Amino acid sequence: MASTKPRLIVLTGATRGLGRALVGRFHELGHTVVGCGRTKPLVNELRAAFPAPHRFDAVDVSDDGQVAAWVGSWLADLGAPDLLMNNAAQINHNKPVWEVLPAEMDQLLQTNVMGVLNVIRHVVPAMIKRDAGVIVNLSSYWGRSTSPGVGPYCASKWAIEGLTRVLAQELTGQVAAVPVNPGIIDTEMLRTCFGASAGRYIGAEEWSHVAAPFLLELGRAHNGKPVTVPGQ
Ligand SMILES: NC(=O)c1ccc[n+]([C@@H]2O[C@H](COP(=O)([O-])OP(=O)(O)OC[C@H]3O[C@@H](n4cnc5c(N)ncnc54)[C@H](OP(=O)(O)O)[C@@H]3O)[C@@H](O)[C@H]2O)c1
Repeated sequence: MASTKPRLIVLTGATRGLGRALVGRFHELGHTVVGCGRTKPLVNELRAAFPAPHRFDAVDVSDDGQVAAWVGSWLADLGAPDLLMNNAAQINHNKPVWEVLPAEMDQLLQTNVMGVLNVIRHVVPAMIKRDAGVIVNLSSYWGRSTSPGVGPYCASKWAIEGLTRVLAQELTGQVAAVPVNPGIIDTEMLRTCFGASAGRYIGAEEWSHVAAPFLLELGRAHNGKPVTVPGQ
């Protein structure tokens, strides 16, 4: 996928961290971003900083009704995205697996797995109909390895790896699905599990300068192949 041609990019979790940094890079590269997050003041900040043709809405991806309404509000006008990035996710507070409460696990899976599935269900049929575009599902080193304390998060990202590879096998045309490990980046999420030592890692802005062009180059050749953002 040539990064110079203007693209329509749908990005969940645009309000903070990696998603927020990517909005800036995609904008600079001349692409249009349709983004979401739950925090209304942050959505309003995005609207002010990146006016139309970009658009940002307050959406909880774990709520299928909200995702349906959100996608319904732009799909007919804008068409299927060239790049769909399922980036929104949460991490658990460090604890051993036997201390994880049902409500905690449920909330995390509702965003990290069901949220991805909700967005796929409402957006991907239009991509298949158009027979073009790339679906990037954000995975993690913890979607391919494990560490103590992050059982729920690991379970969710291993699920994303599996879901994405199955989706790739089901896509018989030109649409591609790629599980992407972004690396280790100093965001609010990383601070939740690493504490202050998260500061040893690069920030989202610096990361996004490498990640955005890399993501825009993904295509059918990467279908079903787990990739990691270069330098990570
Ligand atoms: N940072 C890392 O080192 C790292 C490493 C491996 C993988 N990842 C993956 O990279 C992605 C981005 O991580 P990050 O570090 O940027 O995390 P972050 O700083 O915590 O940002 C997460 C984003 O997701 C949004 N979000 C969370 N729950 C949501 C929901 N239910 N509906 C809609 N939006 C929701 C948040 O916005 P609101 O709070 O406004 O909803 C925020 O914009 C995630 O998939 C993460 O698992 C990150």
